[in-house]
Amino acid sequence: MRKSTLIFLIYLLFQLISLLPHVASISNCNEPCRNLNDCDGQLICIDGKCHDDPTEMTNICQGNPPVPAPSADGCSPSGNLTCNGTSYPTYSCSPAITSSTPAKLTNNNFSQGDDGGGPSECDGKYHSNKNLIVGLSTGWYNGGTRCNQVIHIQADNGRSVKAKVVDECDSRHGCDEEHPRQPPCEYDIVNASDAVWEALGLNIDDGVVNVTWFEEKKSPVLVLSCTF
Ligand SMILES: *[C@@H]1O[C@H](CO)[C@@H](O)[C@H](O)[C@H]1NC(C)=O
Ligand SMILES: *[C@@H]1O[C@H](CO)[C@@H](O)[C@H](O)[C@H]1NC(C)=O
Ligand SMILES: *[C@@H]1O[C@H](CO)[C@@H](O)[C@H](O)[C@H]1NC(C)=O
Ligand SMILES: *[C@@H]1O[C@H](CO)[C@@H](O)[C@H](O)[C@H]1NC(C)=O
Ligand SMILES: *[C@@H]1O[C@H](CO)[C@@H](O)[C@H](O)[C@H]1NC(C)=O
Repeated sequence: MRKSTLIFLIYLLFQLISLLPHVASISNCNEPCRNLNDCDGQLICIDGKCHDDPTEMTNICQGNPPVPAPSADGCSPSGNLTCNGTSYPTYSCSPAITSSTPAKLTNNNFSQGDDGGGPSECDGKYHSNKNLIVGLSTGWYNGGTRCNQVIHIQADNGRSVKAKVVDECDSRHGCDEEHPRQPPCEYDIVNASDAVWEALGLNIDDGVVNVTWFEEKKSPVLVLSCTF
């Protein structure tokens, strides 16, 4: 084979590879595009999105509203539940965890009694409210992978406390027998024991307080040394 033929073949190969993504991603109404060829059928590319061609008077995108974008934190409701005629969104996700994750601190009674609350999800046991323990919204609880994880909770007053995850605050269920007249948990709840509220110098009567939290690095030594 002549050298020039070989170079031409390599050139062709690169042209083909560069064409592939275009071929693979034909966009529909309101989906991103770079040029007309990226859009399906008669659709054209306007401001980076595929639209009906105004000059062709097509109506392909009518009645085809844009798919609702997930909320800014990337977590959208998965459904609705109705308690007493009021509708509440359910969530199977929670906002992304960062080095300073915003959350709402609420108060949970972890001890056994007739107030309806069951034992903690992580170990099926009741706990003293003198322990530094919390329940997390379903997404953060993450099917139990965060059980026994130590988290650092910081209040706006500058105080912070370390607490252990022992429970889930259920964002998917509610308004049923297991959660009598209780709406589903919101997706960004740290449902904490009395001891956590006290350590942060907060007043339980306030009900809900903004906090931030981050996860302590999982280290066997650290987790073992944290006995509450
Ligand atoms: C929740 O209910 C509202 C109307 O009550 C509805 O518009 C919305 O689509 C529902 N959301 C989900 C995720 O089912
Ligand atoms: C927690 O529940 C137990 C058992 O029902 C009850 O004795 C206790 O008073 C409750 N604590 C608070 C702070 O409500
Ligand atoms: C529903 O109504 C009952 C009785 O009126 C009340 O105790 C309960 O707190 C209500 N639940 C919600 C979620 O509003
Ligand atoms: C915190 O947990 C308690 C007991 O399970 C529950 O009644 C309460 O609704 C939870 N808080 C929130 C914000 O869901
Ligand atoms: C709590 O945070 C929310 C937003 O995350 C904000 O809208 C609200 O004003 C805050 N509340 C207080 C009392 O700071």
